[in-house]
Amino acid sequence: MTESAQRCGVRILATGSCVPERRLTNDDLSKLVDTNDEWIVQRTGIHERRVCDPSTEGTFTMARDALKNALDAAGLKGSDLDLIIVGTVTAEMTCPSVAARVSAALGATPAAAFDLSAACCGFVYSMNIAQALIASGQFRTIGVVGAECMTSIVDYSDRTVSILFGDAAGAAILRRDPDPRIGCLYSMMGADGTGWESLYIPRRTQEVPAFDRDNPIRLGHLRMNGKEVFRFAVTKFREVIEDALKQTGLTAETVGQVICHQSNIRIIEAARAKLELPNEKVYVNIDRFGNSSAGSVGLCLDQLWRAGKIEKERPFVMVAFGGGLTWASGVWRV
Ligand code: UT7
Repeated sequence: MTESAQRCGVRILATGSCVPERRLTNDDLSKLVDTNDEWIVQRTGIHERRVCDPSTEGTFTMARDALKNALDAAGLKGSDLDLIIVGTVTAEMTCPSVAARVSAALGATPAAAFDLSAACCGFVYSMNIAQALIASGQFRTIGVVGAECMTSIVDYSDRTVSILFGDAAGAAILRRDPDPRIGCLYSMMGADGTGWESLYIPRRTQEVPAFDRDNPIRLGHLRMNGKEVFRFAVTKFREVIEDALKQTGLTAETVGQVICHQSNIRIIEAARAKLELPNEKVYVNIDRFGNSSAGSVGLCLDQLWRAGKIEKERPFVMVAFGGGLTWASGVWRV
């Protein structure tokens, strides 16, 4: 066995995040679409979300700043990275990837770089893949980012999507570690492409499903069947967390933080209650940041990490679901 192929651990060295300064409140939204603060808070738990200034900010700038933030916290430079993965469905360009531009901006050349498209699962999928690439011996240090400028794809005349989404990026630096007990204890990723029509971003009219053809479609904007996604998510979320706990022998008592994709407070709360997880183990920031798709889990992780809430003794769980349809989990010991 070569040295690189030996069983190793994967350490999360540091985390980072970036959110735009601009806030969009429920009252602001009620001036754009037929909605109101009470309805939004009751149905989603959201009070406000952050929004990019399109002239100066976007997925690339947030991804760059979140990763720089994480590198600074780790005491590393861009040139220390061997690979950058950016989970996103809102890349400014399909070519080059956001990751390639982030690499250039942070001086990471010749690190490998690619974007990963798994919608709201972007960060959890990317973390799972990054840790597997380190464990395989192929890479030593990887920068993982989940970044999403949802406001660039939200149709602000559509009240089902405009109330939910915000902009954010979260990042983590992973490095090979000699201690095999440190790292990802369990990871799982799944998808059901037959459900793609519940959440899609059409670029051509040919792709618009029959049921949606009579609706006013704006190409390049997100279409969502909220009820359908809600139904899927409520069951899937619980199942995925349950599976992660079962596979690692953890329980509601022994697990640390369960970091959920911030989709809708009712979806998170349904899973939390069913699994009898205490409130303090299920972090919520959707009230302030809305649903930032691939940005959300990384942002939560960074906020918890910096608050000292990720404990060494207790493995924590990351869990997400989203367009595709996709779902994923990862259980980590730090
Ligand atoms: O990150 C993953 C992607 N997405 C999600 O996780 C989203 C999952 N889905 C949801 O979060 C929810 O389905 C929504 C928040 C999108 C909608 O909430 P809901 O409780 O499923 O509402 P609904 O679509 O069943 O609508 C209930 C009522 C309807 O009125 P009627 O037919 O009962 O008179 C809607 O027309 O609320 C009305 N409505 C609104 N009213 C005020 C729908 N959207 C709004 C709105 N403001 N923005």
